[in-house]
Amino acid sequence: MRVKRLIAVVVALFMAVAAAGCTTTVSQVKILRLSINQTAKHPSTIALQHMSERVSKATNGRVRIDIYPNETLGAQAETLQLVKAGIVDMAVISGTQMENLNKDFTVVNLPGMFDSVDQQLKVVNDNPVMNDLYGSVRDTWNMRILGGFTQGTRSLYTRSDKTIKTPADLGNMKVRVQESAMMVAMVRAMNGSPTPMAYGEVYTALQAGVLDAAENNEVSYHTAKHYEVAKHYWQTNHLVGLDYVVINDDLYEGMAPDVRAAFDKAWTETYLEHAELWKKATEEAITAAKDGGATFHTVDNKAFKAALEKVAPEFTKTESSKKLYEAMKVEAAKYAGKAA
Ligand code: GCU
Repeated sequence: MRVKRLIAVVVALFMAVAAAGCTTTVSQVKILRLSINQTAKHPSTIALQHMSERVSKATNGRVRIDIYPNETLGAQAETLQLVKAGIVDMAVISGTQMENLNKDFTVVNLPGMFDSVDQQLKVVNDNPVMNDLYGSVRDTWNMRILGGFTQGTRSLYTRSDKTIKTPADLGNMKVRVQESAMMVAMVRAMNGSPTPMAYGEVYTALQAGVLDAAENNEVSYHTAKHYEVAKHYWQTNHLVGLDYVVINDDLYEGMAPDVRAAFDKAWTETYLEHAELWKKATEEAITAAKDGGATFHTVDNKAFKAALEKVAPEFTKTESSKKLYEAMKVEAAKYAGKAA
């Protein structure tokens, strides 16, 4: 199934490129193709559009980034393969997918790793504590991690009107999770029945009743329209998620020094802008989802926290994961104290 889809994506990509009359380079303009599974209105898509404008301006129009939203180039699992092969140049990839390349990425995604988005961003961007982890995919996946965009705090949302206060209330509901062993364990710990699935399939699965629930941040809940088919958002705030912005490493290494400098500068400005856009987008998403009929509920956060405590030890058993976990906790402690 996955291979078939991958072939379909590659064919679609080549057709799109042929239809546009371009390969990567058209009359001296280098076009980088970026894949993202979000809509055009999502703050990550908007920030990356601005990155394209920044790069284009700084290189006098020699380089730009064309963004393909809505999984048009494939879901994240396929996109990873396409970036590795250099068929897609850049992508936004959830931390959960990175776990499948190197299990140590799981550490970054653990419930309880961060208390707030601000704290998370201080640890994951421009911080040497991440160097080994990020560098690990250069040799194995020909991929460079530019850095992270926050996914905000993630919470549960349900189709039914049943009140959720504690994990016991989940009563084995079928909860969509990202394709990650840790996410499966996390939903089990919350007393749900985990159902791994690509992001783009969640709306229909909720609508059809294949799923009882899903978990995501408020921005995705609104922009992906999940609120239309799962009207109750329970503020479990069970973890602070992270997306990585990645680029094919051969491409990055092959950039002329002035282009690379412009690109790096544009990335720094972009991730800082994303953090600002995110705050605003979260507030707007809550208002818009409410206007669309969704209800936001508080839960017994202590009960959820207690249920989730067993997850981190389960995923920090190897030497390397334990070391990373401890080093990240030391960094996180420096920036503690801000509410999630
Ligand atoms: C967030 C995240 C995506 C991820 C999605 C998911 O929206 O930004 O990268 O794919 O969650 O739950 O799959």
